[in-house]
Amino acid sequence: MLAYRHAFHAGNHADVLKHLTLVQVLQHLNQKEKGYRVIDTHAGAGAYALGGRQAQLHREFDSGIARLWGRGDLPRAVQAYVDQVRAFNDGPELRQYPGSPELARRLLRPQDQLRLFELHATDHGQLAGRMRGDARVEVRPADGFTVLKSQLPPPTRRGLLLIDPPYEIKTDYPRVLAALREALTRFAECTVLIWLPQLQLLEAARLPQRLKAAATGVAPKGWLLARLSVQHPRARGFGMLGSLVFVANPPHTLAPALRQALPWLAATLAEDEQAAGWACETSA
Ligand SMILES: C[S@@+](CC[C@H](N)C(=O)[O-])C[C@H]1O[C@@H](n2cnc3c(N)ncnc32)[C@H](O)[C@@H]1O
Repeated sequence: MLAYRHAFHAGNHADVLKHLTLVQVLQHLNQKEKGYRVIDTHAGAGAYALGGRQAQLHREFDSGIARLWGRGDLPRAVQAYVDQVRAFNDGPELRQYPGSPELARRLLRPQDQLRLFELHATDHGQLAGRMRGDARVEVRPADGFTVLKSQLPPPTRRGLLLIDPPYEIKTDYPRVLAALREALTRFAECTVLIWLPQLQLLEAARLPQRLKAAATGVAPKGWLLARLSVQHPRARGFGMLGSLVFVANPPHTLAPALRQALPWLAATLAEDEQAAGWACETSA
């Protein structure tokens, strides 16, 4: 039984960090002519109507993408991400939010491929409907953790693996770690982008260290770990304080771009000054 629906959270601070990083990685991959494959193991519905009932329930986008929308002073990486969201909306108003599948599709070239996995029947149906007719894209209703054997290494020998589970069941934590290990064993050069929640929960607190250990000495281009904190622990108790991205084999441009963007994002998206926090660590 899958309870999580991304429509309730679309465009929140966690999506900002994850999707900004995704745009940076894809723009870097696009600098070389040779095609690549993007594998999105937990794809969601693909895009979300911010006026819809689910997005409107808590309006999480108000403290995420909406805070960036009218600003004229965006750091370069934030600008690149907001440009993609803007291009996805028909007019000047923020009405639609592209999930990782639509963001990836916007940046894909004819020689690239997108493989999307989503288990929730409703989200899978919406996603498949959106992607129908695009020969570069395949959508499957499969468990994203179990598809790595069939997907890696890709025939293109260039690839991005995005792993973005809900973490609503505790087994997601060990499965993410196992997926990173398997991905790097099958295809050591693969860029792997993993999103993680910042929670006061042992499993969540331990995972970054475990991911770093799994990539160290295995991923030839090392790893990057970035954090964006927006809530003070006192305010949220066991709720999400912020989030992190772990990237194995990051492009060399990613750390400088995030180090410029994160202080600005922390000041802009944090609920109060005490909550604002960020970090960007690399193996090199
Ligand atoms: C955080 S959302 C994905 C958001 C999406 N990656 C984005 O950035 O727009 C996680 C999704 O994973 C789906 N899901 C949960 N467990 C899964 C599994 N084992 N395999 C594939 N999809 C799964 C959920 O139904 C949900 O739609």
